[in-house]
Amino acid sequence: MSRSRSVFIDKTVLDLNYVPQKLLHRDGEANFLSSLFRFIVDAPYEMSQRALIIGGVGSGKTALAQRFGLNLMEEAKRRRVRAEYVHVNCRESRGSLFMALQRAVKRLRPQFPDRGYSSNELLDTLMRILDEEDTQLVLCLDEVDALIEREGGDAIYNLCRVQEERLDGPRRLSLIFISKSSEAFRDLDRSTLSTLQRNVIRMPEYTMAQLSGIVASRAEMAFRPGAMPPEIIDFIGELAASESGDARYAIDLLHGSGMYADSSHSQEVLPEHVRKAAAGIFQPIRPEEIRGLSRHEQLALLGIARFFLHSREAKATTGEAETSYRVVCEEYGEEPRGHTQFWKYLNALSGLGAISAELNASEKGRTQLIGLPRMPAEELERRMVEILGRG
Ligand SMILES: Nc1ncnc2c1ncn2[C@@H]1O[C@H](COP(=O)(O)OP(=O)(O)OP(=O)(O)O)[C@@H](O)[C@H]1O
Ligand SMILES: [Mg+2]
Repeated sequence: MSRSRSVFIDKTVLDLNYVPQKLLHRDGEANFLSSLFRFIVDAPYEMSQRALIIGGVGSGKTALAQRFGLNLMEEAKRRRVRAEYVHVNCRESRGSLFMALQRAVKRLRPQFPDRGYSSNELLDTLMRILDEEDTQLVLCLDEVDALIEREGGDAIYNLCRVQEERLDGPRRLSLIFISKSSEAFRDLDRSTLSTLQRNVIRMPEYTMAQLSGIVASRAEMAFRPGAMPPEIIDFIGELAASESGDARYAIDLLHGSGMYADSSHSQEVLPEHVRKAAAGIFQPIRPEEIRGLSRHEQLALLGIARFFLHSREAKATTGEAETSYRVVCEEYGEEPRGHTQFWKYLNALSGLGAISAELNASEKGRTQLIGLPRMPAEELERRMVEILGRG
């Protein structure tokens, strides 16, 4: 029946895990990344390398690295060179180096037992396995700021050192780090930083036209011909451009508007479907993410919401946010945690995208300027009270 015909022909290309064959408007970045690691197939075991990919939300960092990894493994296979690419999201591994390494080890040795190692032992084990398999590994640590937050710079230092210590012998471990900002790397020691600094790939925000192009190419695979009119594609590109060039938002809108078209039995996507999708997606943090926060992180977020509810300022200083947090703690009968701990809560919240935090160095020392970039304070306050209960 034509009335129940879906606007989609292949929804899987809109999945979160889908890796595009080719990234549009990222030729320079992709070429630079593969040139850095070309030795893996051209001169195997002779070098190891590190690179850092930096860019905002939805700028294509994860997709760039994953496409590079898939291409690398294909090329290696074709040239009969042994090489693996493993992509680990550090936030999903709760910032634990141990968990991140475990994922890498499991990829090479699926039966490897879970327990009984420290992360340094596991790192040695990983190197031993690479020796035994006589292979090379590019380990990509995505959202690496979560790892640095939890384990400090030592984790990065140890990862880098383990290959450097093996002066002779074949080179086996290369690293790619991905982060939204270079902030997390500021305090790393200089030798660790120096190689990285030469190999930074910055991902600029996509322009409106670029976003429309990205949306169009994905829509062509996902939608029935004619179901996604060009003006709708431009509309989505425009909305995503105003969300700081976020390609993920654009693709979510593409997906969502198709769902609304289907649910209203429309043969094509209409502007109203996009608006409905936008209203639905416009949630910078998902409820389950808020619930995943610790109680004090939640209290800190409520404190920040309250501050902006009563302030005309666009930004709060760390001190203002902390004062507001303390008031909230009192209301909820909780002992407020100390300053260092509060700073960690802020990092966790900005890592989640719930708040924005920019560093502001003055003669008084380091402070952060906190913002609520997307969600109205009123809405956030309401949700937090819902989750925390009344004080
Ligand atoms: N240049 C591009 N061409 C085609 N698709 C793209 C491009 N850039 C991003 N995308 C798509 O947009 C979505 C978001 O990209 P990606 O996940 O790589 O962003 P990110 O920079 O890792 O964001 P985050 O910091 O939030 O993790 C993905 O579906 C990805 O496939
Ligand atoms: Mg990503």
